Amino acid sequence: MNSTVSPLNAAKRIDGKGCADQIIASIADRVAILGIQPGLAVILVGADSASQTYVNSKSKRAKECGFYSAQYDLPEDTSEVALLELIEQLNVDDQIHGILVQLPLPDQIDPEKVIQAIDPTKDVDGFHFNNAGRLQAGALEQALIPCTPLGCLHLIQHELGAELRGKHVVVVGRSNIVGKPVASLLLQQDCTVTTVHSGTVNPEQICRLADILIVAVGVPQLVKADWVKPGAVVIDVGINYVEDSSGKGRLIGDVHFDAVAEKAAAITPVPGGVGPMTIAMLMQNTLLVAERAL
Ligand SMILES: NC(=O)c1ccc[n+]([C@@H]2O[C@H](COP(=O)([O-])OP(=O)(O)OC[C@H]3O[C@@H](n4cnc5c(N)ncnc54)[C@H](OP(=O)(O)O)[C@@H]3O)[C@@H](O)[C@H]2O)c1
Repeated sequence: MNSTVSPLNAAKRIDGKGCADQIIASIADRVAILGIQPGLAVILVGADSASQTYVNSKSKRAKECGFYSAQYDLPEDTSEVALLELIEQLNVDDQIHGILVQLPLPDQIDPEKVIQAIDPTKDVDGFHFNNAGRLQAGALEQALIPCTPLGCLHLIQHELGAELRGKHVVVVGRSNIVGKPVASLLLQQDCTVTTVHSGTVNPEQICRLADILIVAVGVPQLVKADWVKPGAVVIDVGINYVEDSSGKGRLIGDVHFDAVAEKAAAITPVPGGVGPMTIAMLMQNTLLVAERAL
């Protein structure tokens, strides 16, 4: 992976895109000699443009890996029953190893019901209660771990090495898809983990204790330079679309990149940091399910 030192900032910019490219290439090498073709089904309901972009990227990466890729673009008014029937078919389809339903779903569909309907052994997003419970219990052998937390762990280990014992990790955010599972994952790496949420008093003081600061909130540039200990590794999960005064749009993270880059040892950019790693980990989970089926 190419991490570069920006001329303006002291911190190393962590190249998530480069890391993801390497992982995809090594998955493709593995698939070439696997003996079976891993299959990934990606389901999109409706025409949300951000979701369409994510789903197309996932299908494209699946093809690069040499997977069988099945994309289902369903109309906005798809019923919950129809979606559950499709999942039931995919659950018993031997060609399909991983099933992903792109969130959010339209209002008429209960996302929890849909997630729990996916066969947990094909739940490559790792959101089924069986997989969440296994992660929490440390029973990783049969678990599927959520992709964004796995991607964060990869990037952290790339910067700091595999041994993270004793590092103080502060996770800002406690969602089921990022905050809670990334905290569990790092606890199992023998880190000391603190979780900050919307009810935390003086979050900046707690964040300043972090050797590794992971931010998954959805508030543009919430984390400023004075939230960060000098030399910390900062992982920005946030993806926020903002427009400038001329109406030109761009993506920014939950961390004020330029200011924090002057204090941190290393920081992920947005875009090009955690996002590409999330998709690479989805491919890794799909390969894992196919290997378990051998
Ligand atoms: N890069 C990727 O691949 C990727 C993947 C998933 C998500 N994301 C992005 O990551 C961000 C978070 O996603 P999510 O799904 O975890 O969001 P979410 O479900 O909305 O959860 C946000 C969390 O942030 C906490 N929070 C909100 N405001 C806060 C504040 N001012 N101080 C401290 N904590 C605060 C909330 O606390 P409470 O629980 O107390 O309400 C909640 O736990 C979003 O920008 C999303 O787009 C990126």
